[in-house]
Amino acid sequence: MRLLNKVVIVTGAAGGIGEAQCRLFATERAKIVVSDTNEEKGSKLANDISLAGGSAFFVNLDVSSESDWTSLVEISIDRFKTIDVLVNNAGIYRTESIQEENPDDWDRLMSVNLKGAFLGTKAVIDSMRSNKSGSIINVSSTTALVGSWRGGAYGASKAALLSLTRHASIQNAKYGIRVNAVVPGPIETDMISQNISNPEGRALSESRILLGRLGSPSEVAYAILYLASDDSRYVTGTELLVDGGLAAQ
Ligand SMILES: NC(=O)c1ccc[n+]([C@@H]2O[C@H](COP(=O)([O-])OP(=O)(O)OC[C@H]3O[C@@H](n4cnc5c(N)ncnc54)[C@H](O)[C@@H]3O)[C@@H](O)[C@H]2O)c1
Repeated sequence: MRLLNKVVIVTGAAGGIGEAQCRLFATERAKIVVSDTNEEKGSKLANDISLAGGSAFFVNLDVSSESDWTSLVEISIDRFKTIDVLVNNAGIYRTESIQEENPDDWDRLMSVNLKGAFLGTKAVIDSMRSNKSGSIINVSSTTALVGSWRGGAYGASKAALLSLTRHASIQNAKYGIRVNAVVPGPIETDMISQNISNPEGRALSESRILLGRLGSPSEVAYAILYLASDDSRYVTGTELLVDGGLAAQ
């Protein structure tokens, strides 16, 4: 029970890696705020966890909206009294090259992947500072570390998230708050389904991975569990790669 009674907010929790985290954290006895723009899937997940004896509820949150964050923090504290962990997990993906990218789509991606984590950090920090403890985990990507013939906006947003992680860790360590990033490689979720929908695309993705296969959402969730729990009490400002060795080459 590595998260016994810890209050954990997960954004983008309705599917993929976020859902895997919520299911894992429930087995570790966390109290979970399941947040997403997808109300149907998010509510169902929170319901499933509650029916199985866990503690969870759903909040509709668009991470790019400051007012959504204000309400989410109010509702979370009202319901669970405190906030121990925030996972800035919500993200959107685009494969357009820099030359093909549309500036409005660039802005939208940055407002979800980067501004969303900034707003989330800002929203929970007062509560965590008053508790003199907290753990914030930002979900980056190996596209932050290595370039690709595909995309541009996505990798740039995830690289900026690593910088945000370092700055936030420095500015909050004296308040007992740790801020870290996980850096997944390709993980089998809806996000990359178009890249791996045909055998050639899948083979290309797998060929770049030392362990020879894509990762699963729960393999990332275990890394986030470590950073969320007191097992990582001496860890802040770091980047934990969960990429099957992709970025080692
Ligand atoms: N799948 C991969 O290969 C991979 C690799 C590296 C990093 N990541 C990162 O992991 C995180 C989770 O990705 P995933 O693979 O589970 O993707 P996913 O598409 O399966 O899930 C993303 C979730 O975020 C939600 N979301 C989208 N926009 C939102 C917004 N504005 N506010 C709140 N929620 C929003 C979606 O509804 C969805 O439930 C993302 O940050 C992603 O960039 C994924």
